[in-house]
Amino acid sequence: MTAPAEPADEAVPPEFPMRRACPFSPPAAYAELRESEPVAPARLKVNGKRTWLVTRHDLYKKLLGDARVSANLKLPGYPLQVPVPEETLQSVPLTFLSMDPPDHTVQRRMLAPEFSVRRMRELRERVQQIVDQQIDQLLAKGAESPVDLVTSFALPVPSFVICELLGVPYEDHGRFEEWAWAIMNHEVSDEDRGRAHYELDRYVDGLVTAKESAPGDDMISRLIEFNRHTPAVEHSDIVSMSKLMLVTGHETTANMIALGTLALLEHPEQLAALRAEPELMPKAVEELLRFFSISDAGTARVALEDIELGDVTIRAGEGVLPLNNAANHDERVFPDPDRLDVRREARSHLAFGYGVHQCIGQNLARLELDVVYTTLFRRLPTLRLATPVEKLRFKDDAIVYGLYELPVTW
Ligand code: HEM
Repeated sequence: MTAPAEPADEAVPPEFPMRRACPFSPPAAYAELRESEPVAPARLKVNGKRTWLVTRHDLYKKLLGDARVSANLKLPGYPLQVPVPEETLQSVPLTFLSMDPPDHTVQRRMLAPEFSVRRMRELRERVQQIVDQQIDQLLAKGAESPVDLVTSFALPVPSFVICELLGVPYEDHGRFEEWAWAIMNHEVSDEDRGRAHYELDRYVDGLVTAKESAPGDDMISRLIEFNRHTPAVEHSDIVSMSKLMLVTGHETTANMIALGTLALLEHPEQLAALRAEPELMPKAVEELLRFFSISDAGTARVALEDIELGDVTIRAGEGVLPLNNAANHDERVFPDPDRLDVRREARSHLAFGYGVHQCIGQNLARLELDVVYTTLFRRLPTLRLATPVEKLRFKDDAIVYGLYELPVTW
């Protein structure tokens, strides 16, 4: 496919990403676009290329449910949000996040049983132990408070969990957390990002190779074993699947732990409702996922054919960014959308995307968030911020929204 010609614009489209004026709300322009132009052109800040933004809930689902869009980031027109030199782009192997059916389906099917509701139910007790261990360590540090909740709790919990699931030694967490961060940050140099990809690849390749001869009781070993009996993929695919799990499995949930904790501390009436009715927690988790929609532009696509969406035609070869932070604040679906309401029925949110690529780890994320918020506020009932919100640094520069630090005391 060749790149489409840049249309001659009457007006210069707005730049993307757009900044938030308030850390608890989407950029103000989202609400305006949703009403006036729910499928609107924009220019990517990273390279000035034109793309489409989709801001309405129904149109978001329509687009991501359409088999005529591709997730293949190597296609011209795909709206990349980090600068990647063309040569590097074409040389890196695709993970299944960026594959289309049928290749995508083969790998997704191999992994799906690992994330079933039943598996997650069986995992609850172990997640609870991990969360309790981390809180014991926080309490032991008590005398030194304030403590940074991001490095001493929000990141270790999901890192520990995904390490155990995959069979990755937790001692190595410092290294893979750094590589993952470099891969997902807009402002890291090309050279550093390239190095992070290379080193993470080599690290995971080493792990997979070791498990091929000495399997353990873990997800990577089960993938290898399954593939030995029912050959479906190559060694390099198992490496890329494992790498994808390791990267996506900790950073996202860590950001939600920190942001969700902050939001509940800043909305004491919502926290009080949860304390009075702990059974509200599953609803609160959905609402916090909706409220922050941390992977706002994480579902980039490119059109394979001309697609009518709303009032526009997205031409074959053009890039599209369905924005889940915009769709999740659509008042047609979520009345008074900027208000955090732990009693809201928010389950139809799109924080995990929609369609064939909808987050495979969503039940794991839900489990971790439920156990984390419940246990943290129960065991540290006097938890409070040690720095005013205005001084906190939010990850406005990253693909996944979050907090750099969250100093707390109790
Ligand atoms: C896909 C968000 C946690 C693994 C996705 C997508 C979103 C998302 C929006 C769709 C991407 C697309 O359509 O292109 C989130 C959020 C999380 C979270 C907000 C936490 C709060 C996790 C966890 C894992 C995980 C814990 C664990 C392994 C994946 C994978 C995919 C994915 C492998 C690709 C699925 C596919 O292409 O079929 N996630 N995720 N995610 N997520 Fe998550």
